[in-house]
Amino acid sequence: KVKQEIDVIIIGAAIVDLPLRPVSKEVFDVVSYPVDDISMTIGGDALNEATIITRLGHKVALMSCIGIDAAGLFVLEHCKRNNINTNFIKQDSNKHTSINVGLVAKDGERTFITNRQGSLWKFSLDDLELSNLKGAKILSFASIFNNPLFDNKALVKVFKKAKEEGMIICADMVSPRLNEKLEDIKEALSFIDYFFPNFEEASLMTEETNEEKVAEILYQCGIKNVIMKIGKRGCLIRNANGIKIIEACKGVTAIDTIGAGDNFASGFISALLEGKNIDDCARYANCTAAISIQYIGATNGVKNREMVDEMLVKYKKDYQIES
Ligand code: ADP
Ligand code: NA
Repeated sequence: KVKQEIDVIIIGAAIVDLPLRPVSKEVFDVVSYPVDDISMTIGGDALNEATIITRLGHKVALMSCIGIDAAGLFVLEHCKRNNINTNFIKQDSNKHTSINVGLVAKDGERTFITNRQGSLWKFSLDDLELSNLKGAKILSFASIFNNPLFDNKALVKVFKKAKEEGMIICADMVSPRLNEKLEDIKEALSFIDYFFPNFEEASLMTEETNEEKVAEILYQCGIKNVIMKIGKRGCLIRNANGIKIIEACKGVTAIDTIGAGDNFASGFISALLEGKNIDDCARYANCTAAISIQYIGATNGVKNREMVDEMLVKYKKDYQIES
């Protein structure tokens, strides 16, 4: 039997999204409310990331938790079709696979309706077999705070194991669901090699509004490389070499920024696996995100590696960077 090598293990949410658009505030004023489309799409930060990294040519195993139900089968089917390793996905008859209903307004404003009893909220350290966390170069913890049961204590256990195995640790975050503060996860942050928060989330968590100060506070927590996403301006890097901005792609019209952050992380991690330096990783991340935002949905933009490579050629030309 051929041993299947794994490049990245991703921990996080693998769920189903039901985006409804366009929905207005008047939805309750009528008996029936037609929208353009209602169909299941795959979602969850970890599943999005796994999908894009696989398309960029690397081997991914997902560590997640789903129920034994139709939504769970939908997730597994997607993984199979996309060559994502599902050996470490726990199927739990006591859980319902989360289904997030997204209400999207015409102007892009959106709200997610989420199941408090769903796998997203119930996924915990008990669902992980930590002994499986080995043999890959990178651990990506898709989003701190997304699965609320992964608190500081749980994160530290996961990250310690990854470090024992010599893995590089990457992580993103979402806004806290339970009003957690920086103090609550400070210890866990100190294990992270590459951290990809966006500015708004990081600003809320650090209770600081100045961009450079926000990055500085995170860096002082012991994170090796803070890679803060700053929207159409790109990303800001704070590490031992100081602070700098790696600009975003020029001339991109954003259609839907859902999943831009997941795509950014996917591009960065892929470049890291290929041994690129940090600036080039950030450029590749910007290019991956720039493609994603030109399509509706998180995983409908980047279809293959060539698309991102092409974007990178344009990027280097626009910024006159030698290849
Ligand atoms: P998140 O999606 O996590 O909220 P951002 O909004 O900061 O994060 O966007 C993530 C990344 O998407 C940015 O770092 C940048 O690379 C890219 N991006 C976002 N908006 C634009 C834009 N208008 N033009 C080009 N790139 C963009
Ligand atoms: Na998108």
